[in-house]
Amino acid sequence: MASRVALVTGGTRGIGRAISEHLKKSGYKVVANYGGNDEVAKKFTAETGIPAYKFDVADFAACQAAVAKIVAEQGPIEVLVNNAGITRDATLKRQSRDMWDAVIDTNLGSCFNLCKCVWDSMNERKFGRIVNIGSINGQAGQYGQVNYAAAKSGIHGFTKALAQEGARAGITVNAIAPGYIDTEMVQAVPADVLQKIVARIPVGRLGHAEEIARGVAFLVADDGGFITGSTLSINGGQHMY
Ligand code: CAA
Repeated sequence: MASRVALVTGGTRGIGRAISEHLKKSGYKVVANYGGNDEVAKKFTAETGIPAYKFDVADFAACQAAVAKIVAEQGPIEVLVNNAGITRDATLKRQSRDMWDAVIDTNLGSCFNLCKCVWDSMNERKFGRIVNIGSINGQAGQYGQVNYAAAKSGIHGFTKALAQEGARAGITVNAIAPGYIDTEMVQAVPADVLQKIVARIPVGRLGHAEEIARGVAFLVADDGGFITGSTLSINGGQHMY
């Protein structure tokens, strides 16, 4: 297990950073992807020793090139965490087609892109662990997020379909549906709106990124071979079903 290569998209900040660090601590050879913020990525690599690869997860050709480079430099990717995601919140009335496309392509298209790039290799090796980061808002919907809710809901369907295709080859595909976690993404929600959201969380607080990372580590473990197609909700009790 110590040498398994784990790729975490959006792995230098927020929930992704916590996942990268947790998997490294658990013995994986972690590789983080990031999309734009060079300064944060440089600091992340300096602090953690985890290499960071810059590419746009929404761009299929860029993913193909990056995965080939990672495999050549680090070894075959056996664990993939599709975590990269963005928000472009606005009510449908104010949402532009560009805001829709950006969120669908980055949050959902990326799952297709990266899974496609590692799929043949995982099938040949008869082992793979894929975790897709969905959202409570993909399960329950959220005012001002038709794009994000659709993309995240899509991730949950994608996960269940791909799990069936990978099962016989020893590849598990699962999702985590985080609730509101204390990252920059959530802190960007207007304070008055966020206050009302937190008031609806039974645990009474935002979640911590590490609490999502622990879930990922659980799902990707070598002895997790019978857990596939599942969605692990980690949301402080905000949405149960
Ligand atoms: N239900 C019903 N009505 C609502 C509502 C809700 N949940 N939220 C707002 N409204 C109403 C307001 O009361 C207001 O009505 P009035 O004009 O009658 O007063 C109207 O909608 C407009 O509200 P805003 O002033 O907030 O409108 P806005 O255009 O300035 O902003 C918004 C709209 C961008 C959607 C803003 O409300 C917002 O950012 N909401 C938070 C969205 C959110 O939760 N995003 C999550 C980001 S984090 C994340 O996504 C991570 C994850 O996976 C959990």
